[in-house]
Amino acid sequence: MKNCLYKSFQKYFKTGVALSSFFLMTNEEFASYMKGIESYLLNVCKLKSITKLPDIEKIKKDTMEVLNYAKTQFNVIVPENDCKMQYVYKSEDLIDFSWPDRYVKFAKENNQKLRWHTLVWHSQVAEWIFYDENKKYVSKELLDKRLKFYIDSLGKRYKNDIYSIDVINECISDKTFTLRNGKEKSLWYEILGETYIEKAFLYAKEAFPNSELVINDYNLESVEQKRYGLFNLVKKLLNKGVPIDAVGLQMHINLQTPSVQEIRETIEMFGSLGIKVIITEMDISIYNDIPDEERFENQKIITSEILDLQAERYFNVFECFKNYGKTGILSDVVLWGITDRFSWRNDFPVPKRIDAPLLFDRKGNPKPAYYKLIR
Ligand code: XIL
Repeated sequence: MKNCLYKSFQKYFKTGVALSSFFLMTNEEFASYMKGIESYLLNVCKLKSITKLPDIEKIKKDTMEVLNYAKTQFNVIVPENDCKMQYVYKSEDLIDFSWPDRYVKFAKENNQKLRWHTLVWHSQVAEWIFYDENKKYVSKELLDKRLKFYIDSLGKRYKNDIYSIDVINECISDKTFTLRNGKEKSLWYEILGETYIEKAFLYAKEAFPNSELVINDYNLESVEQKRYGLFNLVKKLLNKGVPIDAVGLQMHINLQTPSVQEIRETIEMFGSLGIKVIITEMDISIYNDIPDEERFENQKIITSEILDLQAERYFNVFECFKNYGKTGILSDVVLWGITDRFSWRNDFPVPKRIDAPLLFDRKGNPKPAYYKLIR
């Protein structure tokens, strides 16, 4: 393919993509992964037999094609799952560097920059970290020590390889718009209290002195109270001297909301604090759900009209990003996947509903949105 996405935008910002382990597995790992799925279907889901086994060769070939887009269309990559604490911090003093190492190698081989997603999050976390041998919560001191050890160890190995890090992910509550607590699954808050955020940033600054440190969250554009919640937190922390360099807007949006105006207001609001804004996980669902009202659309047929609307929507939002790229507030736009087939939104927020939120279709062909953007 002659066209190139990141080159179309390099005057304004870097263009990145999330990649999952699926794409970086060796053939042997891939075969055993598929076997795992098979045995899950038979043993856990109790299917009597699987009439149509996945064609491993075919899937592997498809993933190689997708991988080629990752190498040629983007100048930043981000592991979609493999650098989350659950997969890296295995036990008290055991850190498994094998998957992060692979991404470092991949990025180097392809002349790309690498982001780390994510150091501290309430989800996909190493659960053991919060408990002692009696299955009781650990003390503040011990959790603090574990957190510091984790971040220090990563810094020792990767400080020159990771240019940008999501230090804190999704810390604002969707109910109270203040810090998410234990009732909303944050054992970080439950055990360490609100200072866990500044601790993580201070440890990250020591361990990765030259990386951009990011606080990342979702729905900040469409939910004004949440936007203010994060704004007030970041303002307070900056005043205390906490080294936050940028706010990450996840940007899991749909065809209708948020409006470009809301996106603009959000970028400007955080920009007014003198820090940068980056787009960390963008995709545009074809379903106009309203999660706050528990309204979710049923599966629909993906028509060319929908894909044209989506192309228009990608274009308008990227035009907005370009403006802030020019002024220097916005430096990165990362898409949360390459093809619709492997997008997390096929399962979220409605399990098994087929979505089409990315720039390449299920077969791996560029969609109208892709062509509209590279023009
Ligand atoms: C998602 C991944 O895309 C899925 O593969 C995984 O099963 C769950 O996590 N916000 C985030 C990301 O910060 O880490 C999430 O990624 C999507 C929402």
